[in-house]
Amino acid sequence: MHAEYGGVVPELATREHLRNLIPVCNQALDLAGITIGEIDAVAATQGPGLPSALLIGLYAAESLAFTLDKPFVPIHHHEAHLYSAWVSGDPLRAEFSSFEPSVSLIVSGGHTLLVLVEAMLKHRVLGGTIDDAAGECFDKVAKLIGLPYPGGPELDRLAQSGNAKAYAFPRPMIHDPTDDFSFSGLKTSVRYFLRDHPEILDSRAAIQDLCASVQAAIVEVLVKKTVRAALRNGVKCVTASGGVMCNRTLRIDLASACASAGLGLRVTDRVMCTDNAGMVGVLAEQKLLRGGGFKRYDFEIAPGLALG
Ligand code: KG4
Ligand code: ZN
Repeated sequence: MHAEYGGVVPELATREHLRNLIPVCNQALDLAGITIGEIDAVAATQGPGLPSALLIGLYAAESLAFTLDKPFVPIHHHEAHLYSAWVSGDPLRAEFSSFEPSVSLIVSGGHTLLVLVEAMLKHRVLGGTIDDAAGECFDKVAKLIGLPYPGGPELDRLAQSGNAKAYAFPRPMIHDPTDDFSFSGLKTSVRYFLRDHPEILDSRAAIQDLCASVQAAIVEVLVKKTVRAALRNGVKCVTASGGVMCNRTLRIDLASACASAGLGLRVTDRVMCTDNAGMVGVLAEQKLLRGGGFKRYDFEIAPGLALG
């Protein structure tokens, strides 16, 4: 629906949320094989995200909790991604019994974060993007190449057959001592590169090389800074989550870098990487079990990131 506009259109998203919310809830109950009366608590994402869409989910969930007289658990979007890395197996289930302090990379369309997780539900943001998120960079570069939206998965697919050393692109902030990221300069350098070499878009092989080269730049920055943050903070474990963690090269390179550095790694199962309600439910259950999840979340995980 959004593809023909090249990005999410808030009015369309809001209308579709309204149209689909009740049917999707009914479908989820059917799939789980439970009735509405068997629900113990209701959770919903409070933010950050698209405010109009979030409000629909939030008010529906709060109303349901109020009507059923059950606790309501507001969930921070990034925190749900973070803990999705501790869900695995078939069927998927939470494995918090093996929880370890960790450095967590959260990479998606709206955010690129490194978080120090000192204990279960106790975390501190080490750094984030100062401009575009990694997924946004994938999507914007894909758009420059003329790939359909969302471009990240398509760019990943084309990159598989390309030569990552074909074109040299900058690795923004790779040597910067902070744990922050910046990807808008990389996108701009691809724009100028294509302006100066428009013939690249006429050749499938050259497009594949371009995709592989840009992907290599993004992945190298993410991997190097994540491993460095883990070693600097003395943790033995790295976790990684968010839509961009579907990226095959990122999964492989992060695994080999962590192995070389003697770090354990938990990467979110691919089906749980892009936005989903499963990760929201899993985190809500932990908050309920630990008795701390009933009030509105205060967004402290990502200072400076306003709603929206
Ligand atoms: O976590 P997510 O579903 O939504 C946000 O919270 O933003 O992440 C979506 C992002 C999009 O930018 C999409 O292009 C990117 O994840 N993405 C990928 C891949 N699959 C999804 N980026 C690179 N390679 C992929 N395979
Ligand atoms: Zn997300």
